[in-house]
Amino acid sequence: MTSSPLTSQFTGRVVIVTGAGSGIGRATAIAFAAAGARVLGVGRRQDALDKTAQEHPGIAVLAADIRAAHAPEAIIDTAIDRWGRLDVLVNNAGATTLMPLADASAGRILHLFELHVVAPSLLARAALPHLRQTRGSIVNISSTYGHRPVPGAAHYAASKAALEQLTRCWALELATEGIRVNALAPGPTESQALTAAGLPQPVVDQIKQHEASRIPLGRRGEPDEVAAWVLRLADPATTWLTGQILTLDGGLELT
Ligand SMILES: NC(=O)c1ccc[n+]([C@@H]2O[C@H](COP(=O)([O-])OP(=O)(O)OC[C@H]3O[C@@H](n4cnc5c(N)ncnc54)[C@H](OP(=O)(O)O)[C@@H]3O)[C@@H](O)[C@H]2O)c1
Repeated sequence: MTSSPLTSQFTGRVVIVTGAGSGIGRATAIAFAAAGARVLGVGRRQDALDKTAQEHPGIAVLAADIRAAHAPEAIIDTAIDRWGRLDVLVNNAGATTLMPLADASAGRILHLFELHVVAPSLLARAALPHLRQTRGSIVNISSTYGHRPVPGAAHYAASKAALEQLTRCWALELATEGIRVNALAPGPTESQALTAAGLPQPVVDQIKQHEASRIPLGRRGEPDEVAAWVLRLADPATTWLTGQILTLDGGLELT
C-alpha cells in the first residue's frame, strides 16, 4: 500500500491490532507499520502472527486469546512496556458465525459476545489511561450486519450491533478527553472468515460468487481497502470525526 500525507501522521505512534494474523487485521497491521507506526499484532496462532510480522519490521506480535482472563490488560501492558505509549486500539478480532436460531446454544452465544463485546470493552478499558495521555483513538471493526438483518447469523449480527452502540456511547463518554471512537462496517471482504467458520470450500466458493454478484461495484472487498479506511478513521489528522459507523461494502447496502 502506498503511504499518503494523511497516513504519514503515524510516525512514532503506537497501535494495537487484534486479529492481526490474517485478513483485515493483517492488512491493517501492515498498513499502520508502513505509515510509520509501531504495531502490536495480537491473535491466537503464533505462526499466523509471525507471517504478519515478517511483512514489516515495525510489527511485533503477541499470541493471546483476547477472551482469556487478564488477556486484555496483558496485551495493553505489552505495548506500553515495549514502547511507552499507546495511540490507537483496533478491535478487529472476530468470527463470522452462522447459527440459525434452532442451533443456538448458550455456549456459542456467549462465545460471540465475549469475542465481539466483552473483550473489546476490556481492551478499551485497559487502554483508556494511555489513550488519555496521547488523545488517541479506538477503531472497532463491525460488519454491515451490525445494522442490517441477516437470516441464519442473528447472534453474530447482534454482537456487532452491540459493538456499534458501544462505539457511539464511548464516543460521547470520551469526547471531553479528546479520545475519538469510530467503527468500520465492512461488507464481504476476502479473508479467512468463511473458512474459519467451518464451511467446506465448495460452499465458501458459492457464497463468494453470490455475494460478488449482489455487490453494485461487482466484487468482494480486499483487506487492503478496508485497512486504508481504518487508518483514515484513526489518523490524528482526522480531528473532528467521532461516534461514526462507516460502511465500506461496494454499495451493497444501497440495494
Ligand atoms: N471478511 C468479511 O467479509 C467481513 C465482513 C464484515 C466484518 N468482518 C469483520 O472483520 C474482522 C476481521 O475478520 P476477517 O474477515 O479478517 O477474518 P479472519 O481472517 O478470520 O480474521 C479474524 C482474526 O481474528 C483472530 N481471532 C479470532 N478469535 C480470536 C480470539 N479469541 N483472540 C484473538 N484473536 C482472535 C483470528 O486469529 P486466530 O484464529 O489466530 O486467533 C483471525 O486472525 C472480524 O471482526 C469480522 O467480523 C469481516
